[in-house]
Amino acid sequence: MRSQSPTVFQPLAASKAGPLTGRVRVPGDKSISHRALILAALASGVSRIRGLLEAADVINTAKALSALGASVEKAGSEWRVAGCGVGGLRQPEVRLDFGNSGTGARLMLGVIAGHGITVGMMGDTSLSQRPMGRVLTPLKKMGLQVEEDRDTLPLTVRGSSTLVPLTYELPVPSAQVKSAILIAGLHAAGETTVIEKVATRDHTERMLRYFGADVRSVVQDGHTHITVRGDAELSGHDVTVPGDPSSAAFLAAAALIVPGSDVTIEGVLVNPSRTGFYLTLQEMGGDVAFLNAREESGEPVADIRVRFSKVKGVSVPAQRAPSMIDEYPVLAVVAAFAEGATHMQGLSELKVKESDRLAATAAGLIANGIDVKAEPEALIVHGSATVPGGGTVTTHLDHRIAMAFLTLGLATERPVSVDDATMIATSFPEFRGLMEGIGATFTDPIRQAK
Ligand code: S3P
Repeated sequence: MRSQSPTVFQPLAASKAGPLTGRVRVPGDKSISHRALILAALASGVSRIRGLLEAADVINTAKALSALGASVEKAGSEWRVAGCGVGGLRQPEVRLDFGNSGTGARLMLGVIAGHGITVGMMGDTSLSQRPMGRVLTPLKKMGLQVEEDRDTLPLTVRGSSTLVPLTYELPVPSAQVKSAILIAGLHAAGETTVIEKVATRDHTERMLRYFGADVRSVVQDGHTHITVRGDAELSGHDVTVPGDPSSAAFLAAAALIVPGSDVTIEGVLVNPSRTGFYLTLQEMGGDVAFLNAREESGEPVADIRVRFSKVKGVSVPAQRAPSMIDEYPVLAVVAAFAEGATHMQGLSELKVKESDRLAATAAGLIANGIDVKAEPEALIVHGSATVPGGGTVTTHLDHRIAMAFLTLGLATERPVSVDDATMIATSFPEFRGLMEGIGATFTDPIRQAK
């Protein structure tokens, strides 16, 4: 049985705002939150996680790990995970539902692969259309069995406690695929190596080391070889999850396009494998500064100060895509206000996200009077000092499309509406409250009409 899309859509509109100002904190990084729960569940002993993102995607991973036998509970402001040790999870009695989360489903396939258990896995309408073959192909080589002859959820998979080590070159630049293989590699008898032609976010490698695994990364001929030693033992550790740069991106973009704004987002993850968006804003002439740089739980963190800036169009190289893959919709929004054209290249992965984000972004820009050209793997946005707005954007139940276009409406001549804002809860439930806290103006069209 598939879970259903929400039947009640909640449209939301954003309208021209005065200067946005203040200091804010965004919730914990989604990628690190998933990994902290997963590695804590595979560790021996107790881990305490501070700053965990309490959004639907991460909660689904927590529920899945509980169903597999780990003890995952909230204790005050922390989460406490009593792990089962590598290979120690047990047969669940229920089917695991990953909701909207590709990260949850794919990383957990790597976990399940190393256990001799049979698990039913499902997701919502969006997740059920997303490609799982990219993780199933390498995991099958290691010993995972899949009952169905397809590569989309729902699936029934059977792992093995005797996985075969693997050396695998990633055919697509995907941290999720890399992570699934490395996590499975913990259970294999020998060394498992993933080869990346283009570097992707490295949180799994960092956190595996932090939990005590033997992981090494070596660059050879421009390719990164990441090797994990199997038959691993992890021990429980305390983790502090830094703020999510992908959530902070909406606040940063809003501050950049709303005249007079000055916003500081505190405690944001600034791992270089995640900061392509901020680098691009700086190249566009944006006043974006990383302040008070520090390290937390093995990850670099800073406060990001963004002030309104007159920006110009730039060319964003394809190589940069993995370091800002979730930020293209909101970069396209910033580009709408730039002088000249912004070229974004190497966007094929954008088509297999929670929606086809290349098409959804282009359609949303067109609906709001913005000059955009969509190519098979590129987006070219022609900016202007005044942007009409006035459109209603179809979000395709995609949280980032909803947040990007609500951000747009804060600086357009007429309000911008999105057909549904409920999916924002999958990654950033505090979005509306935090944005309103710095001066954003949102209205609920249905309540207004009553
Ligand atoms: C993620 C990796 C990215 C990103 C997703 C989170 C992760 O996906 O889009 O939101 O936590 O590893 P891909 O690895 O599939 O590009």
